[in-house]
Amino acid sequence: MTTTLVDGIGLLYTGDPEREEIADAALVLADGLVAWVGSAARAPDADERVDVRGRAVIPGFVDSHAHLIFAGDRTAEFQARMSGESYTGGGIRTTVAATRQAGDAELAARARALVNEMRAQGTTTVEIKSGYGLTVEDERRSLEIAAGLTGETTFLGAHVVPADMDADSYVRLVAGEMLEACAPYAKWVDVFCERGAFDGDQTREILSAGMKAGLGVRVHANQLGEGPGVRIACELGAASADHCTHLTAADVDALAASETVATLLPGAEFSTRSPYPDARRLIDAGVTVALATDCNPGSSYTSSMAFCVALAVREMRMTPLEAIRAATYGGARALRRTDVGWLRPGARANLVVLDAPSYVHLAYRPGVPLVHQVFQDGLLLE
Ligand code: NIG
Ligand code: FE
Repeated sequence: MTTTLVDGIGLLYTGDPEREEIADAALVLADGLVAWVGSAARAPDADERVDVRGRAVIPGFVDSHAHLIFAGDRTAEFQARMSGESYTGGGIRTTVAATRQAGDAELAARARALVNEMRAQGTTTVEIKSGYGLTVEDERRSLEIAAGLTGETTFLGAHVVPADMDADSYVRLVAGEMLEACAPYAKWVDVFCERGAFDGDQTREILSAGMKAGLGVRVHANQLGEGPGVRIACELGAASADHCTHLTAADVDALAASETVATLLPGAEFSTRSPYPDARRLIDAGVTVALATDCNPGSSYTSSMAFCVALAVREMRMTPLEAIRAATYGGARALRRTDVGWLRPGARANLVVLDAPSYVHLAYRPGVPLVHQVFQDGLLLE
């Protein structure tokens, strides 16, 4: 077993709540894991040494919410929005039509390209949802392709009701035959609980069926307006309620009293020109917050966690420390993972070396490609 000392770290953000920041730090990697973390002055010997020359190091980003299995393009919808139209989620059906038309190889190649794009920007863990197939076979193949790219796969058959079906029969299909075909490839079940998509009763029915099939729960909740999504997520013990843009005081209380993470997706508000979620209210109430890209061709076509961190700081009044925490540790909590999202002994050696002296530069220098090197499971990515 070769051990590697990563030395000369100007500022290490560990993601470990017990010791979040260490100046003049070093790390030892062994067997794909973190073996030691601390001050460079006390670093043990190792077989190899990488000197990062004063750069900052952070855990690899954990992007806990992405829709990467799709074909087609919605540039025209984006242009129309930027000329004043509002986002309703209606464009999902455009992507569904294009996705159904595409072959497996095309869908897989497009998703792989997005995962590679993410990795080059420092994302070392990504969750991938289905939801643009909406037939038993198109959802099944979407999840099979997703499972080839990540262990964090989510069945989102309940994205919208397809144009050629009535809602009741579709909910029955999703909770029955479609779930059965998809569950072998999925870790999570998700529902778009929103006016125009699925209501509270339908959401409960589909999530409960998913839980019976052994899947964990996450919910697209309260994105476009207030509704029952967040409360259902908390009630069912969901790992995460995602979006959380329109919350009542009762929703905030329910999140604070639960283990459910609030995953904020500011790329969606940016790209739909909508008001951002109130991150301060959630953090001040003691809710665990995650940040993710929501990467999808409609509401948020960004693969950049750094961009989301910058938006969170500038637009949602999160501090740079809260934002980097939400993009690493928070994302891991939202996926109920303890092996990623932080750098401490025993965690996976997933880390990003920034071309900057501090993680603060992610927000201070928005849009600048600051990722110098990415290590995944201890290996330096080319
Ligand atoms: O998370 N809100 C539902 N789903 C996606 C958008 C999907 C789309 O517009 O294609 C979201 O924003
Ligand atoms: Fe989403």
